[in-house]
Amino acid sequence: MVLSNCRGIFSMLLSLWLLASTPVLAIWPAPSSISTGDSTLWIGPMLSVSYNGKPLPWTFGYEPKGSQFSSSEIVKGGVGRAMKSIVQSNFVPWMLYNRMELEQTEPSLSKPKTYVTHLDITQTKADTSKTFKPLAGDVDESYSLDVDKSGKASIKAVSSTGVLRALESFSQLFFQHSQGPFFYTKSAPVSITDKPEYDHRGVLFDVSRSFFPMDSILRTIDAMAYNKMNRIHIHATDSQSWPLEIPALPELHQKGAYAKGKTYSPSDLATIQQYAISRGIEPIIEIDTPGHFGIAALSHPNIVAGWESAPWTAYCAEPPCGQIRLNEPSVDPFLDKLMNDLLPRVSPYSAYFHTGGDEVNFNMYKLDPTVATNDSAVIVPLLQKFIDKHHARVRKAGLVPMVWEEIPASYNVTVGKDVLIQSWLGDEAIAALTAQGHKVITSNYNFWYLDCGRGQWLNFAGADLATYYPFPDWCSPYKNWRLVYSYDPRANLTGDQAKLVVGGELAAWSESIDDATIDDILWPRASAAGEVLWSSPKGRSQFEAAPRLAEFRERLIARGIKSGTVHMPYCTQGQNATACLYQ
Ligand SMILES: *[C@@H]1O[C@H](CO)[C@@H](O)[C@H](O)[C@H]1NC(C)=O
Ligand SMILES: *[C@@H]1O[C@H](CO)[C@@H](O)[C@H](O)[C@H]1NC(C)=O
Ligand SMILES: *[C@@H]1O[C@H](CO)[C@@H](O)[C@H](O)[C@H]1NC(C)=O
Ligand SMILES: *[C@@H]1O[C@H](CO)[C@@H](O)[C@H](O)[C@H]1NC(C)=O
Repeated sequence: MVLSNCRGIFSMLLSLWLLASTPVLAIWPAPSSISTGDSTLWIGPMLSVSYNGKPLPWTFGYEPKGSQFSSSEIVKGGVGRAMKSIVQSNFVPWMLYNRMELEQTEPSLSKPKTYVTHLDITQTKADTSKTFKPLAGDVDESYSLDVDKSGKASIKAVSSTGVLRALESFSQLFFQHSQGPFFYTKSAPVSITDKPEYDHRGVLFDVSRSFFPMDSILRTIDAMAYNKMNRIHIHATDSQSWPLEIPALPELHQKGAYAKGKTYSPSDLATIQQYAISRGIEPIIEIDTPGHFGIAALSHPNIVAGWESAPWTAYCAEPPCGQIRLNEPSVDPFLDKLMNDLLPRVSPYSAYFHTGGDEVNFNMYKLDPTVATNDSAVIVPLLQKFIDKHHARVRKAGLVPMVWEEIPASYNVTVGKDVLIQSWLGDEAIAALTAQGHKVITSNYNFWYLDCGRGQWLNFAGADLATYYPFPDWCSPYKNWRLVYSYDPRANLTGDQAKLVVGGELAAWSESIDDATIDDILWPRASAAGEVLWSSPKGRSQFEAAPRLAEFRERLIARGIKSGTVHMPYCTQGQNATACLYQ
């Protein structure tokens, strides 16, 4: 059966196809086109792999090392991880078959087995330095994957990143047998061609509100790779803590981290960057300015206005307040020193640097003696100067600036056409900014803020107790995966505007999230957005997506990601979720 998915126009056909399918088709995010058969193939650790005609010796979980990226090392890492997923962290799919029917659906262990013995990988173009630190659109992530009935598998891709995406799909073809460590697919031959819809498919990771150990970040990068996501945005500092070590300004973390050791050294940062790039994920670092900068007051009181000013509701969005002063001569030398230290450690690994720019509170500038007013006629020209100089620092380091939408859309500050703008307040700014020719990514808080809807993290007293009862947070409700999935970043835009929406990011702001809870917050909801960004599933129903997402969730769990549930087994047994359709 062949499915050529002209995205969006035939969700009916898709549903019918799924009713008749086996779970193997549940590759997440859905590929552009897939065809399968009904032959069984087995796979084990003895897979021989070639890369561009030469044997590629691989080992389980191989990790490329160092700052020089070689295509064959990257591919070797990808093969090692895919094989680890298949034969070391797979799952028995009892929850995907009718009650008590798993065993009769499994292939017999006693009959002769045909194994997948060879995987031939062909990369049709050489990678360039841009492959490993791309701007949106620089990397062709497309691939094709074929597995024939005799057990020969082949991958063809333009870039090593495309090879990684193909290996991820390959890993999702196989299941574990209930009788032990035997791994099979029942759907050979398989033929897939695939490519992403959006160039920027990201997760925003806030390591300032809560400190996250390295393992949290690396685990999230792995989970992102399972979802074919390709940007991790590290919100590295905020008013609450400064965990990022800046050797030229060590007092920033010495005074501003939450505790000794709750910091990221230059070598930690390089580890994160290299780990991400080895998985086809670009690390983007953000130092939020001029707002969300309070903590620097502990080491550099002269550059910060309004540190811990009270009541904070008069001066900032959450405690503690603190913004970079706009007219104070010592700010520029400070930022020069900060950026001269950090940007050379960013530019080998990324094409972007995020300069922040959200929630600049004009009232706080009443507390800055060199501004002493909240009048936008005074503040906006100062902000313009600040952004011009700060973006010049970023460009001088060979990087493209990113900003939050308020800088151009709320404060009317002009930014260059090179700048990538991150929108979060809804889609009006996206329409306006793309109409002006700006490139944008979306993190619309109504859909893609994953910290929302779990209630307040603030405490209330006195009259506020009644006012805020029953304590919903500002962006309630919780964004169920169905809501995440329903969001179309290019809705209501003209064709030219739509092209300027290069992708989006899921945000999990960490006021009330830490290492113990991050997996359940991100997954599988970020997976739902991952499919929006990879496959643009316009018109695809929850009924169609739910069983595939439920199956993919089991892969996440098997691979050590403590993802939340999609369905109880009652809904997933029978493969098609009709038992849990609202009617
Ligand atoms: C500026 O401050 C005045 C009082 O000092 C206040 O009435 C006004 O609302 C403030 N403007 C803004 C934009 O916050
Ligand atoms: C930006 O421009 C809009 C539209 O002219 C205006 O409503 C808004 O007040 C301006 N914002 C600032 C901070 O000047
Ligand atoms: C698109 O327009 C419709 C109708 O005005 C509106 O309901 C919807 O929220 C808009 N969607 C986006 C993503 O802007
Ligand atoms: C789909 O669900 C219905 C109702 O639970 C069931 O009768 C049918 O067998 C299911 N189809 C498949 C392919 O499992």
